[in-house]
Formats: sequence, structure tokens, C-alpha cells
Amino acid sequence: MKELQHLNKYFYKYRVQIIIGILITIGSKLFTVFVPKFIGSIIDVVNNQLLQPEVDETIYRAELLKFILLLLGSAVLSGILTFWMRQTIINVSRYIEFDLKNEIYQQYQKLSLNFYKKNRTGDLMNRISEDVGKVRMYAGPAIMYSINTLTLFAVALVFMFRQAPMLTLYTIIPLPILSVIIYKISSEIHKRSTIVQQYLSKLSTFSQETFSGISVIKAYGIEPETSVNFDELSETSKDKQLSLVRIQALFFPMMILLIGLSNVLVIYIGGKQYMNGEISLGTISEFIMYVNLLTWPVATVGWVTSIVQEAEASQKRINEFLNTKPEIQNHNHQLSDIKGDIEFKNVYFTYDDTNIQALKNISFKVNSGETLAIIGKTGSGKSTILDLVGRLYDVDKGEIQIDNQPIESLNLYSLRDATGYVPQDAFLFSDTINKNIKFGKENATDDEVIEAAKLAQVHKNIIKFNNKYDTVLGERGITLSGGQKQRVSIARAIIKKPQIMLFDDCLSAVDTETEEKILNNLKTITEGKTTIIVSHRISSAKNADQIIVLDDGHIVQSGTHEELINIDGYYKELYLKTTK
Ligand SMILES: Nc1ncnc2c1ncn2[C@@H]1O[C@H](COP(=O)(O)OP(=O)(O)O)[C@@H](O)[C@H]1O
Ligand SMILES: [Mg+2]
Repeated sequence: MKELQHLNKYFYKYRVQIIIGILITIGSKLFTVFVPKFIGSIIDVVNNQLLQPEVDETIYRAELLKFILLLLGSAVLSGILTFWMRQTIINVSRYIEFDLKNEIYQQYQKLSLNFYKKNRTGDLMNRISEDVGKVRMYAGPAIMYSINTLTLFAVALVFMFRQAPMLTLYTIIPLPILSVIIYKISSEIHKRSTIVQQYLSKLSTFSQETFSGISVIKAYGIEPETSVNFDELSETSKDKQLSLVRIQALFFPMMILLIGLSNVLVIYIGGKQYMNGEISLGTISEFIMYVNLLTWPVATVGWVTSIVQEAEASQKRINEFLNTKPEIQNHNHQLSDIKGDIEFKNVYFTYDDTNIQALKNISFKVNSGETLAIIGKTGSGKSTILDLVGRLYDVDKGEIQIDNQPIESLNLYSLRDATGYVPQDAFLFSDTINKNIKFGKENATDDEVIEAAKLAQVHKNIIKFNNKYDTVLGERGITLSGGQKQRVSIARAIIKKPQIMLFDDCLSAVDTETEEKILNNLKTITEGKTTIIVSHRISSAKNADQIIVLDDGHIVQSGTHEELINIDGYYKELYLKTTK
């Protein structure tokens, strides 16, 4: 139960509702137990009338009416209170579920990029949906049924012992056995249903991948193989389902068998005691009803135990993420203006998941308003430099300074707010083009959106779509070409008008003519702003104030275009190749 202590703060938050819920539960069980009691009394009244017909009929009728009304009242009150019991306790568990989901989601947002590299998306999703769902079963049903069982037992046993102590003992003997059996069966059910769940998610992942990659599957003509794989998977899935159903089928027969046994015991022992004149007829019927009333709560003891175990395991997984400290911490809580001087001083950086040293002893300085171009082969470390400027990672050795201050000492949000980043592979949300561009600046006007799209040379493409800027992108909408995506992504950065602009090879899928136009537009936009352009083309780099050439994490050349085309090296080779 150590892990589940995390929920205590929520129990405290909803303590009033929980206490009310507990009181209502106790009340409802009290009235539930009254029902058999009054039925027993009615039977005794009728029986007495049969045995002693000489007693006045009006007294008999009044007695009967009294118990019938009491019975009715208890049944109605028990029903109403049971309704309110669920309304309070189960609702609290829903509130807790909601709070916990928000807590996890907020934590996810805080965690650094590295965390996402190490954990798979499916795993992240599971913790926020399935695991939270299991924890809710503990916070609601498990607690409700436990209180339920406890009060029912306490009240019923008092009634029963007062009435017939020996009979009570015989009646409750089979109950612990029932509880253990139900526990065994329900743990087995949980075990098997986890496996079934795993297979279901395998099946859906498989189908999803098939549908996303359908064009490749069709092009290679591998539909039959894909079908065979699917068949095998669903065959195993079916077997697992059947094995689950088999054990589930045992649940109710077992319960009914044990209830039956208890009933037989009550009738046999009770019958003998009645014949000896130790108890009344009403007591026997009352006890039969108690046995039936107590069976379900006893069965839930086993069930609740396995719910709590599952919740504990789920909460452990959730806590693992909740206790992860974001690697990138904001040390400065004062917002500040960023001018845009960027300096790298002997920076080293290693990705800890792959242990690849992506940057080795990198030093350069870009003054506010200047443009730096970074050229180099794939894998040379270009994107890594941009990630470090946005402080998506912290350096291992050396220092990055922004406006002559260590980057770690700046307010993280001011820094991110001051940077506009166009990633290498443009990511667009399944939303309208308008919204995708406005992502860079939430309160932008439609005119600003159009302006940005024009500068990014994508306006002409957009107005050709039927819905223009309201065209929905992604799965349910239109698929943009690689170059169009890149340009929408550029418009998103432009609209933000940030002080630092980072372009990561974002013109690679654009033809050279459009590239030229965009670069020309960028000149006016980036006036007075610090710009870093990563590219593998000379055309994007040649106008920069400064160019560095990276190879395997080292700076191998640096200078202006004019300087570099006159020195033998990678830049000159690339220049000659493209101008040939
Ligand atoms: N997220 C990452 N995790 C681990 N290794 C990475 C990651 N990103 C890049 N690398 C590695 O770091 C090196 C530099 O990558 P990168 O900066 O993306 O190069 P470029 O942008 O020049 O193609 C490469 O060897 C690459 O495999
Ligand atoms: Mg890259």
C-alpha cells in the first residue's frame, strides 16, 4: 500500500464527501439488515396467529400492519441511501481520477525531451488512461465495498448473535472459504484479462500500422503475408479470450454453490433447533436471508483484495513518472528581455541514450542581428546545436551564453518565447492551416496569418484549396507535400517575430527558385534578429554573416562565403559541385 499513499492528498481534499459517503453507507446497510429482520417478525406474527387462533384478530392485524410498514420503510430507505452512497463515493473516485490525470499530464509537459526519447508513447498513454483507471477502482469501488462489507457484517452479526448464537456460528463457517475461493478466481481473472488486454493492444497496433502503411503494403504486394500475420495474432488473441471466459464462467457457479451450502446448513441446523423449540420459524427465514445478504459482501473481500493489488501496481508505474525530475530546470523566475547574442564556449554534448558524442569543443559567437549558417553532412551535429540554443538539453562541458549570461541562468520561458524554431521534419497538428500557423502566436489576426504565409511562399498554395486557410490537415484532411509542410512551419515561426530564429534544414524539400524567394523575404524579417540557418545547400548559407562547417561534431571550417570558397575544404567542394 506504500505507492497508493500518493492518493492520500486527494482523499484529504475530498474528505467531507468521503465522510458523508461513509455515513450514508452505514445508514443504508443498517436499513438493509432491517429488511430480513422485519420479514422474520412478520412470519412469527402469522405463525403465532396460526398456533393461537384464540387471540384477538385486531391485535394480530395491527401487529402485522406495523411490521409490513416497517419493512416497506426500511426497503425504501435502504434503496435511497444506496443510491446516495454511490453518488458520493463513486463520484469522489471520478474527481480523483480527473485530478490524477491532470497531475500526470502536467508532469508530462514539464519533462524534458530526453524523457520522451527513453519512454514509448504507448507507455505514456497507458499510464494516463489504463493505470489511472485501475487506481480509480481502488479510490471508489474498493473503498465503497469495503465499508459496505464491514458495516453489513457488524450490523448483521449483532442481530444474528442476539437471535441465535449457535446458528450464527454455523452460518458463517462457509463464508471465509467463499472469500478465499473468490480471491483466487478473481486474481486468475485479472491475470488472464491483462494478457487479453495485451493481445488486444497488439492487434490494434498491428492494424493501425497496416493502415498507415497501406500504400507501401500494396506497392510491394504483400497483402497475403500481412493477412497471415494478422490471422496468427488474432488466433492467439482468441485462445487467450477463451481461457479468460472459462475462468469467468466459474465465478457465479462457485458463488451459488457456496450460498447453497450455507442455506442447507441454516435449514438443517435451524430446523433441528426449531424442532427443539430453541428458535422460532421467523428466525430460520431471517437467517436464510442474512446468508444471502452476506454472501456478496464476502465475495467482494476477495475481489477488493485483487483490485487493491492491481491499483498498487498501477500507482507504482504512475509514481515512477511523477517522481521523475525534469532535467531542464528553470532557475530564474523573473521574465526578461532577450537581445539575442549567442555564444558557444568549448561546448561538448553527448546524448545519454545512445552515448553518441554529437558535439566536440564547439565555439562560435553570433551577435544580435547577425546570421550564422551551419553546413555539414547528416549526423555532423547541426540539429544538436539548435536544440542546445533552445535549451532542450543542457551541455556536458563548456558553456553557452545568451546576452553574455550563462543560458541556464536565463528564465527558460523568456528564452523559449524569444526563439522561433523551424524543425527539420515539420510537424503539423491535425487542425486547420490557420490554427497551425497561429500556433506560433495565439492572438494573431487572420491578416497576420496571411502575411506570414505570403512571406513563407505558401499563400499561393493555400488559396488553391477549397477551404483555403480553413483546410484541415492531417489524418482526416488534406496531406501537404513535404515542401508545403516546411513552408507552413516557417510561417508559424515568422508570425511569432521572435528575437532568435532557428531554421533547421527547413528548405530541403523546397525547389531552389522558391528557396531563393523565401531567403529574400527572410532577409527583411530577420533584420535585427539573430538567425541560425542549418542547411546542406550553399544557396541557403551564402548570404550569412558567418558560416561554420561541421564534421563529426567538430567545427572544421568557419568564415564568410567569400573566404570559404577560396580555401580547399568541404565548403569549396560543395560549392563547386552545386555550381557545376
Ligand atoms: N535524440 C537523439 N538521441 C541520440 N542520438 C542522437 C539524437 N539526435 C541525434 N543523435 C546523434 O547525434 C549525432 C548528431 O546528430 P544531429 O545533430 O541530428 O546531426 P545533423 O543535424 O547534422 O544531421 C548523430 O550521430 C545522431 O545519430
Ligand atoms: Mg539535422
